[in-house]
This record gives sequence, structure tokens and C-alpha cells, in this order.
Amino acid sequence: MRRRLGTAVVGSVLALALAACAGEGAGGGGGAGTGAEAEELLVGVSMPTQTSERWIADGDSVRQQLQEAGYQVELQYAGDDIPTQSQQVDQMITQGADLLIIAAIDGTALSSQLQAAADAGIPVIAYDRLIRDSENVDFYVTFDNFQVGVAQANALLTGLGLRNADGSPGSATGPFNIEIFAGSLDDNNAFFFFDGAMSVLQPLIDDGTLVVKSTQTSIEQAAILRWQQETAQRRMEDLLTAGYNDGTRLDGVLSPYDGISRGIITALQNAGYGTAENPMPVITGQDAEIASVKLIADGVQHSTIFKDTRLLAEQAGIAGEAFLGGSEPEANDTETYDNGVKVVPSYLLPIETVYADNIQSVLVDTGYWTAEEVASGQAS
Ligand code: BGC
Repeated sequence: MRRRLGTAVVGSVLALALAACAGEGAGGGGGAGTGAEAEELLVGVSMPTQTSERWIADGDSVRQQLQEAGYQVELQYAGDDIPTQSQQVDQMITQGADLLIIAAIDGTALSSQLQAAADAGIPVIAYDRLIRDSENVDFYVTFDNFQVGVAQANALLTGLGLRNADGSPGSATGPFNIEIFAGSLDDNNAFFFFDGAMSVLQPLIDDGTLVVKSTQTSIEQAAILRWQQETAQRRMEDLLTAGYNDGTRLDGVLSPYDGISRGIITALQNAGYGTAENPMPVITGQDAEIASVKLIADGVQHSTIFKDTRLLAEQAGIAGEAFLGGSEPEANDTETYDNGVKVVPSYLLPIETVYADNIQSVLVDTGYWTAEEVASGQAS
């Protein structure tokens, strides 16, 4: 990873020199694309929250990538509070940032900051979450978010025995009772995850193989504001009280994120699930958070989706260097991510489904978590 970034740095230094000769440049806040040395350039990195491990890892990796390439980095977390994030981004602009990398809390709430950035010639990279309703978003680095939803739904079907892991029909026929959870409605990704999952589940709901007893199958009904664990626990408790108190068994839950899955699991355990006679329903997840990886290893949670945040940080670094060197980053998708004003050129990374039996190969062998962390359920 370091070596690849190193090559990118050499490349961008060259590009920088060429751009300076040709008199081009992104015209960034301070000196992007104007021949400035990396050490003179400041990158503002704005992350949503530290309550989820993935964003801590994202922030650390992005900072490390950029600092190793010589740039100054200002990294801020906004505590999932929209005014705080707006203020932090404003401050980065005032400090003379030459590039902004932003993982938004609310994808629609940063328009005026982005206008100020554009006025100052500062390129903006949306990190993992698309920033909407603004033309001043220059690039988007993320994962294949629709595919995340498809993979979550496939994992649910695999857990229920309706499908095998290779996609072939499984031995079970159903019908199975499931409930559906979605992410935060102010996060564009929540819609991609949900649409991806429903592209797989809806036909099986329609033909009666899957039964959603609550009938809550719209994203508005299933959404969990700010992806909060406690909110998810409360919704699961309400669903259990309303539909499953008569002894009806719940067989599976589509959950879009590990924190939400843990809230769901707590509600289910409190209701008596998780015993030999009454096993845990099949529960999906996302992000391979360490507490959830342990739950998967222990057979409590069924699966999660691994998004290698190290690779995302690397892509953000590569895209950032391109802008700072006065050129355009390379996109691998120029169609999918319409932010309401324009289609934002994007770089999408692949994802991987993690079950108990591939924790070792996907997460431990690649150095994402150590065997000790998986065993303890805590990051060291
Ligand atoms: C990210 C997910 C994450 C969720 C909650 C989404 O925007 O893409 O990886 O689980 O936010 O933090």
C-alpha cells in the first residue's frame, strides 16, 4: 500500500511540475497545482463520528496516507452533529485548506460550505458518503454501495438456507418470517444499501417465501436515524411486541450496519432468543466492527460486509494528490452517483461478505484485525 502511494507521489510530483510549466492547476485555496511543495499544502479531513470504529480507522488511515506523502492534515470528527461538522469545514476553509475530504453526516447539509470552498478554488472529495444537492463536489470515493445491499440480502438467504453461498438454490423452502432495517435517511448510502437488498428480497416477499409480519417494508418505515444502536434496539423491541408475542418465531433480520445489528441482538436476547431451543434469527451487518466480528465468531450474528477502509483511504489519497497536483483523479464510475445536481465522478471499491468461516482469511490474514482482537471483541 505504501509502495503504491509512493509511486503515486512521484507521479504527482511530476504532474505538479508539468502543471506548473503549463500554467495550469486546480487553483486550490493555497497552492494546489501551482508548484507548491507537499509540505506547504493543507488537507482538511472531516469525519462524522467516533462512535463507530470504522470512521476512526478511516480518519487514521487518510491522515497517515497524506502525511506520509508530505502533506499537512487537519482531521476533525463532528460527533454526529450537523452544525459541528459545518463549523469544522468552515474553519478548515478559513485555515487555508488546499483540499477537503469529507464524510458527511447529512449529505444535504453542507451546500454553503461547499460554495465557499468552490469560491476559494478548493477541490472537494466526498468520502464514502455522497454529498448531495451541490455542484461543488469534485470527486467521490466509496464502495459499490448497491452491491453491499445485494450481498447483505444474499447473506440473509444463505443463513436461512434458501440459497447456498455460491448463489445456487439451498435446501430450505420457507416461508420464513423476517424484519427489515435500513440506515439513516440523510445518508445517501442508506438508499443504495436498501435498494440493493430489496432487489433480492422483494421477489421472495412477493411470492410468499419471505414474510414481513410487521408489513414495514418501505425505507421510511425501516430507517434508523444516524444509524444508532439504541434506536435500532427500540424498534426491534416494538416489532417483537407487536408481532411476535404470540409465539411466532422471527427467522431473520436484514440489518444494514453492525451497530444496528448489535441493538437488534440485544432486543432479541432480552426476548429470549439465542438459546438451543430458540436460536438467534439470521442477522446481517456491515463494516466488520470488532465487537460484531466476535459475535459472528461466537455464532450470534450471522454475517457482515467487509469494506476495507485502508483501500478507501488509499483511494482518497490518490484522488487528493491528483487534485493537489493540478490534474483530475481517475474515476471508474461516471454514471451511478447523481447528487441531485450532477453526476459525481466516482471511484468504487469492491466489498466482501464475512461469515464465521472466513473471518481468518478475510480479516485476520489481511491484518485488518488480529486473532486476539477477534477473540476479545475489542480493538487493541
Ligand atoms: C457507511 C457504512 C456505515 C454507515 C454507518 C454509511 O455511510 O457507508 O459503512 O455502516 O454509514 O456509519
